[in-house]
Amino acid sequence: MNMLPLRVNNVTKIFKNSKGQEFKAVDGVSLDIEPGKIFGLLGPNGAGKSTLINMISGILLANDGNIEVFGLDVKKDANKTKQLIGVVPQEIVMEMAFTVEEVLYYFCGMYGVPRHERKERIKAVLEDLGLADKIHEKARSLSGGMKRRLMIAKAILHKPKLLILDEPSAGVDVSLRQKIWSLVRRLNDEGTTIVFTTHYLEEAEQLCDSITLIDHGHVIKSGKLKGIQQEFSKNSIHFELFDRSVAPLAGVVEVGVEYEYPITTNLATDMAKLTSHYNHNLKSIRSEAASLEHIFLKLTNNGS
Ligand SMILES: Nc1ncnc2c1ncn2[C@@H]1O[C@H](COP(=O)(O)OP(=O)(O)O)[C@@H](O)[C@H]1O
Ligand SMILES: [Mg+2]
Repeated sequence: MNMLPLRVNNVTKIFKNSKGQEFKAVDGVSLDIEPGKIFGLLGPNGAGKSTLINMISGILLANDGNIEVFGLDVKKDANKTKQLIGVVPQEIVMEMAFTVEEVLYYFCGMYGVPRHERKERIKAVLEDLGLADKIHEKARSLSGGMKRRLMIAKAILHKPKLLILDEPSAGVDVSLRQKIWSLVRRLNDEGTTIVFTTHYLEEAEQLCDSITLIDHGHVIKSGKLKGIQQEFSKNSIHFELFDRSVAPLAGVVEVGVEYEYPITTNLATDMAKLTSHYNHNLKSIRSEAASLEHIFLKLTNNGS
């Protein structure tokens, strides 16, 4: 049987806000994640991404619904599911008084990496993350970027089959971001299923096979990235302008920084209509592949 790496079934998490009122941070979310893929969980700050991740990793308990990792329930089979997942949380949590080696040795123990394999495993992981020369440094003396890399090292030590990264690019410089992504891609090539959250939609466009967009705890769109982009591009032309103050052509809708024009006659005629109306003011114009940002703005009604 081909078990799904992750199955989230109608999961809800209720919190109390600062006034003591209950609200659903995650509201009836369902997701199925295919093996061997890179999956993006996207949404603005406060959408409920980390809350969902924390329920998958067992830090939080769902109020309703259930979560399965390779067919095992994360509540009932917590010990087994923890061995199968590696989670890189959004916040840096670290045993600051210990050395890099001690931190990793402790986690090897927690994940049941056999004693005689631990030294080798730690060495390999540190090399992957460019931290080999820091092995005897205290965690607290590492730079922010190095601490983040150590968080990743902790998550991959036990060779999880499902790696979950919560906002791996937040607050990370371009060069570290590239290093993280080349490592994640390699792990994916070797068979690890990847789930990551981001509010950088461009990043998701480059990396994901499938995505789920969430907002206010709800799934607003889910599916293959290519399919979603096509669905939103099929019947319209997207363009950007240099001068946004010129009078719009009738039928044009503003979506974030872009504009959208529904195809009424046919693509060629409508393109010609737009280029003649806007002329040199057109910065870009295209008829396919709506950006995720565009799609997101449309779905959340922030765009027009
Ligand atoms: N422990 C908590 N107690 C109360 N509210 C919380 C708690 N954790 C998160 N929230 C709230 O739940 C919502 C979703 O937060 P979060 O899952 O962190 O969003 P995201 O990761 O998508 O930015 C936000 O409104 C946040 O303020
Ligand atoms: Mg978050």
